[in-house]
Amino acid sequence: MLRSRYCLCVLCVTLGAVLALMLFFLAPRPAGAADPQPAATAPVSFINDVAPILKENCFGCHGAKNPKGKLDMTKFASFQKGGTKDAPFHAGQPDASLVIDLLKGADTRMPPKDVADPLPPAKIAVIEQWIKEGAKLDAGIDEKADLVKELCLRWTPPVPPITYAFPVTVTALAFTPDGKQVVASGHHELTVWDASTGKLVKRIRTRARRALAMVFLPDGKLAVAGGRPGEEGDVRVYDINGGTPKTVDGVAYLDGVDDKAVMLKQLLDADDEVLCLALSPDGKKLASGGCDRIVNVWDISGGALNAKLEQSIENHADWVFALAFSADDKFLVTGSRDKTAKMWDLEHKESVLTFPDHQAPVYGVAIKPDGKTGFSAGDDNQVRAWNTQGDQAAKQTRTSGGHGKTITKLVVVPKQPLLVTASADDTVRIWNEDNGSAVKTLSGHTDYVYALAVSPDGTQIASGSFNGEVKIWKTADGSAVKAFNASPGLAAPAPPTPPK
Ligand code: HEC
Repeated sequence: MLRSRYCLCVLCVTLGAVLALMLFFLAPRPAGAADPQPAATAPVSFINDVAPILKENCFGCHGAKNPKGKLDMTKFASFQKGGTKDAPFHAGQPDASLVIDLLKGADTRMPPKDVADPLPPAKIAVIEQWIKEGAKLDAGIDEKADLVKELCLRWTPPVPPITYAFPVTVTALAFTPDGKQVVASGHHELTVWDASTGKLVKRIRTRARRALAMVFLPDGKLAVAGGRPGEEGDVRVYDINGGTPKTVDGVAYLDGVDDKAVMLKQLLDADDEVLCLALSPDGKKLASGGCDRIVNVWDISGGALNAKLEQSIENHADWVFALAFSADDKFLVTGSRDKTAKMWDLEHKESVLTFPDHQAPVYGVAIKPDGKTGFSAGDDNQVRAWNTQGDQAAKQTRTSGGHGKTITKLVVVPKQPLLVTASADDTVRIWNEDNGSAVKTLSGHTDYVYALAVSPDGTQIASGSFNGEVKIWKTADGSAVKAFNASPGLAAPAPPTPPK
């Protein structure tokens, strides 16, 4: 959970900063967390009032794994039992309770003085009042239940603002199967834009704060990975043409949180964000990777609704940022914050190779249609090509420089020997995958480019940036054909500048 806060790569720091802003300005906090003072009459609820305070301030050190003072606060039972010292609380006696002593402590204090400020008096008062009222656990919750999960269940996603006061970073994009529309990640929503006019045509509310990867499945349904940093992650399948849309400000609005005809199925429920998705070329397998380091592979040959989890692969030492299937559907190439790209044999369920040359987090991977060359790109600004087979497996064959900063995404253009990269240097580049030469530099973004998609027929590229701008480009000549800000209601950006 703490890892997301400690990730210092440029991607996470900047994403984190924007999300903090967004949260502050846009997202109403869940009841209980925002206003911890109990109403004068209502008794204090452990799960709604106390647990959110503990989660925010204490679980980092008093979690289930190696808790400090041997005190695991993530279950009511283990919190009540206590650690190496006296029980943390005695029902009805706040003044005799160790936890109150420590929260107010002049000498020894919790959270410890060298790490954090004391809790505000209002929050300490909530815990004090709860102990005074008998220190009870709410009815219906098992005392051994994981409180993080219980809080997640009770959490309701905020409703996205009708018009955005600030641009939202575009973290994922996908062309619809007909290539006419682009789906973009918003704040607790997906937004659908007409690729030729740049007009907002639809909005789909989501539980996830942001989408980090999207892929249309063979049946036209949309698989979306994302979550809330450090809180939860998911892979869900949506029908963006399902349900009964409302009209808000002239735009169709779908409820992807509660409408079962829109949010069809949740494939994965994780403790932290899911970062990437890939669909096998035969359309029969879907793979995801994320902050839990695990790559999940589903058999979706019977449709996403009947998806079967086929394998969960633990092959990386850190977050998995990128995934790509080989053309024969038998291998999966993965890229990770552990600074390697790896290849996995899906049939034999074994690791085939590890490519270590980036010596920096790997944000994008691909594999050539002939299966013999792998590509990876990342924080070292390079696109590297390497052998996948024989004695020379994992040996680098080429490196292509040009980007001045981190490469954030790498995608292939279908049926053409072209790779496309997005970078924190504000550009998108097209590369020839046969010789590694740079074919085109697509300039015009005015901020880090984080999201990239290619239309199913390969003729168009969509890129999205930190400042919310989405650009649509023609693959053939690299010309910018459309630009819009994917934050609903924000003023349109300046007209696109021609490519250099
Ligand atoms: C940065 C880490 C950290 C955070 C955050 C933290 N604690 Fe602690 N806590 C410790 C350490 C270390 C000890 C063990 C101290 C010792 O044994 O002298 C401890 C011990 C305790 C104990 C005594 C456990 C025992 O029986 O030994 C209680 C109660 C406690 N903490 C409550 C809290 C509460 C409540 C919060 C949140 C408001 C909190 N702590 C946040 C590090 C932390």
